[in-house]
Amino acid sequence: MLSDEGYVCGRDLATVVFLSLRLGRPLFLEGEAGVGKTEIAKALSAALGRRLIRLQCYEGLDASSAVYEWNFAAQMIAIRTAEASGTADRSALNTELFGPDYLVERPLLQAMREDPAGPPVLLIDELDRTDEPFEAFLLEALSDFQVTIPEIGTIKAPKPPIVILTSNRTREVHDALKRRCLYHWVDYPNFEREIEILQSRAPEAAEALSKEIVAFVQQLRTEDLFKKPGVAETIDWAKCLLALDVLTLSPEVISDTLGAILKYQDDIAKLHGSEAKRLLDQARADIDSA
Ligand SMILES: Nc1ncnc2c1ncn2[C@@H]1O[C@H](COP(=O)(O)OP(=O)(O)OP(=O)(O)O)[C@@H](O)[C@H]1O
Ligand SMILES: [Mg+2]
Repeated sequence: MLSDEGYVCGRDLATVVFLSLRLGRPLFLEGEAGVGKTEIAKALSAALGRRLIRLQCYEGLDASSAVYEWNFAAQMIAIRTAEASGTADRSALNTELFGPDYLVERPLLQAMREDPAGPPVLLIDELDRTDEPFEAFLLEALSDFQVTIPEIGTIKAPKPPIVILTSNRTREVHDALKRRCLYHWVDYPNFEREIEILQSRAPEAAEALSKEIVAFVQQLRTEDLFKKPGVAETIDWAKCLLALDVLTLSPEVISDTLGAILKYQDDIAKLHGSEAKRLLDQARADIDSA
């Protein structure tokens, strides 16, 4: 199902995705940047024909921006209009102001609404960027899939959404949350799988060039770098090389296009001079021996 959406994965990841769907458990995905964590949720929602609802986490994210807010500006206008017309019935106005018309639904509440297509895919992306109070709140929300809005009442999901959480592991996520989920570490793909990914995402690249690109990036990942290139960088780089009509790698081409795979000056500086040539020779030797 995932491969129909162009998502390439091994048996281990496919199994854990299957189990999470079968058992209705949230799936917690950890891994380096750009290895395809977010993409799994996108592929899953496309494959199942479900709506994708994304909660992008950041420092300072709190329950109110994750669940619901009142549309304060619209409420003010309604109050002013009522005042001006002089017909303000206070209790009716109060009920109206805190009713569905003035409720702004945020991702967690949206995910609890009934959807004719079936329960949506709820992607809680980059969970490690939030702080612990929000995590504790999330733990509760994920256990019963209901929220209480004092003015309206309790809203409960008719069927729980499919939940995918991702983290880049800039900090450890609390055990209590992990315990509710199935866990999978999304690793860098091996040579064959990365070639497959490249064929799926940049099919214009010729086989010989794809092999060189992947072998070089794989070689680069074994170096001591501040930030290793992810799969996203491999795909970007291939597209850059195609745009330059490159047919085969050379140290010059590599140094001209390094900005597509390395994003830190210290890492880029390491590859100047003979280093790029050494890595390229090593990559070619790997292709020949494969
Ligand atoms: N296994 C894969 N199959 C197909 N495409 C992939 C795969 N892995 C990565 N990609 C591609 O790499 C790109 C980056 O993936 P994605 O955004 O999911 O990474 P991420 O792990 O969420 O990274 P970050 O931690 O930076 O958010 C996507 O555009 C996707 O097309
Ligand atoms: Mg992501």
